[in-house]
Amino acid sequence: MTDITTNPAAPASPGERPRPAHRFPLVLEGQPALVTGANSGIGRAVALGLGASGADVVVNYVVNPEAAEEVAHQIESGGRRALAIKADVSQEDDVKAMFAKAINHFGTLHIAVSNAGLQRDAPLLEMTIEQWNKVIGVNLTGQFLCAREAVREFTRRGVLREVSAAAGKLVFMSSVHQEIPWAGHANYAASKGGVMQLMRSIAQEVAPLAIRANAVAPGAIRTPINRPAWETPDAYRELMRLVPYKRIGEPEDIAQAVAWLVSDAADYVTGATLFVDGGMTLYPGFTTGG
Ligand code: BGC
Repeated sequence: MTDITTNPAAPASPGERPRPAHRFPLVLEGQPALVTGANSGIGRAVALGLGASGADVVVNYVVNPEAAEEVAHQIESGGRRALAIKADVSQEDDVKAMFAKAINHFGTLHIAVSNAGLQRDAPLLEMTIEQWNKVIGVNLTGQFLCAREAVREFTRRGVLREVSAAAGKLVFMSSVHQEIPWAGHANYAASKGGVMQLMRSIAQEVAPLAIRANAVAPGAIRTPINRPAWETPDAYRELMRLVPYKRIGEPEDIAQAVAWLVSDAADYVTGATLFVDGGMTLYPGFTTGG
């Protein structure tokens, strides 16, 4: 069991619940994994968590190669192999080249985590077509392109019983906003709603091939994407009105969910979305109202 806490120095916020220890059982040996957007935030924790679980890991990035190399080194110092690969997941040629390079390097892939995502927020009347296309391109088209390449490889190789009961595992990074509408973020919410049906349709299609597809839907997690929501005590207090469990999520909370979903402990789980959100989707506004 290895602990990979990435935010040990994160300040305790007002009213914050204690954070759990994050330990990863060694259950993914011999299963190379690819994680997109793995140089920061949730993707970084997922890459480290899969490495701690025994997988060799492809650390995809599009900017900030130093951060990707740092993640790769950390995985290597835990005794696994790692390879940082630059690719813009919204570009078909980039994605094909990345998978070819990854498969060439590790021999095959058993796990693909489509995590890369971004926000370009604007009120509807101010939202530009560039903001719309960027978010849909990375968050939705990117997940389609990665799933397609991964399934090609899983199908080519088939099941290796000594490694896993499945021929391959796909994880799609969704959001609570696949369910919760989000004014001022229509492009983002639409992309995550799309991820839900993309994942479910693919899961239905590839289940007979012994491939599992699931999604993780994070709530508010302490990452750069939503820094303004947790950086100041006032913002944190405001955020906690939306989180019944009364603490922000850590990237490792998501990594733990992903590590379980791709392990054989979850072999009968496919087409599911696992909400990891401290209860954000429990409509906390109805605790006293309604
Ligand atoms: C968004 C964050 C937001 C969280 C909860 C995530 O999907 O990327 O910015 O804080 O949902 O609203």
